Amino acid sequence: RKPLSIHDLAAMKRQGEKIACLTAYDASFSALIDQAGIDAILVGDSLGMVIQGQASTLQVSLDDMIYHTRWVAAARRRALVIADMPFLTYPDPLGAAMNAAKLMQAGAQMVKLEGARFEAVRFLVDQGIPVCGHLGLLPQSINRLGGYKVQGVDPAEADKILADALQLEAAGAALLVLECVPAKLAAAISARLSIPVIGIGAGIDCDGQVLVLYDMLDIGIGKRPRFSMNFMQPPVAIAEAFGNYRSAVKELRFPTPDHSF
Ligand code: KIV
Ligand code: NA
Repeated sequence: RKPLSIHDLAAMKRQGEKIACLTAYDASFSALIDQAGIDAILVGDSLGMVIQGQASTLQVSLDDMIYHTRWVAAARRRALVIADMPFLTYPDPLGAAMNAAKLMQAGAQMVKLEGARFEAVRFLVDQGIPVCGHLGLLPQSINRLGGYKVQGVDPAEADKILADALQLEAAGAALLVLECVPAKLAAAISARLSIPVIGIGAGIDCDGQVLVLYDMLDIGIGKRPRFSMNFMQPPVAIAEAFGNYRSAVKELRFPTPDHSF
């Protein structure tokens, strides 16, 4: 069976079906997540924290991303595979395309990059590479932001995020991740864009949700963010936790206001 494409996710948005997404970094989890009917798997550079045990995502290399993307992509049948472009691998459009090519050759169907990188996005799309944008909290900019905190609370900042989202769409992005922004802002952006908006800590009104695998399984070594939810509680098998996450997203039972800002 052919995996889902960005067009299938776009159709889900048009039809009002929520998109369920999780991160994964290896073949076993990729297969289990896929079998649970999760629509998209993100090989996130969060692997710097949950796999490598580092304090941020900054030291993740392109080779790390290629390695994990290969195993995740090989093991899934249906889910769309998105690979993160790590820190400083998209400083300019050509450099971005050369690096994105390696992730696509490893089996990704789409790459994700952080921030208002309109020219890089447009160039990648021109080269045939689907792009997922990422706005709000940008972990690769953590040293500039000064901490993992909610973004877009003050009105000028919120307007900037909305404007960047519109420009990313205009540049050809086919998906947008919004991380750690007020639910109201995420709702407005999801309504304004025709491309699907996938939220993490962004409230219930996004077109889909994503969580870091090790957070929702409650096996991470770091602090669990407030917007995450432990799907292993009450105790269930891991495969069941994935199914429960999927239905919670599809049936609008996750995130609750407790997981939102
Ligand atoms: O790296 C990652 O896991 C991500 C998600 C938090 C969206 O970028
Ligand atoms: Na990431």
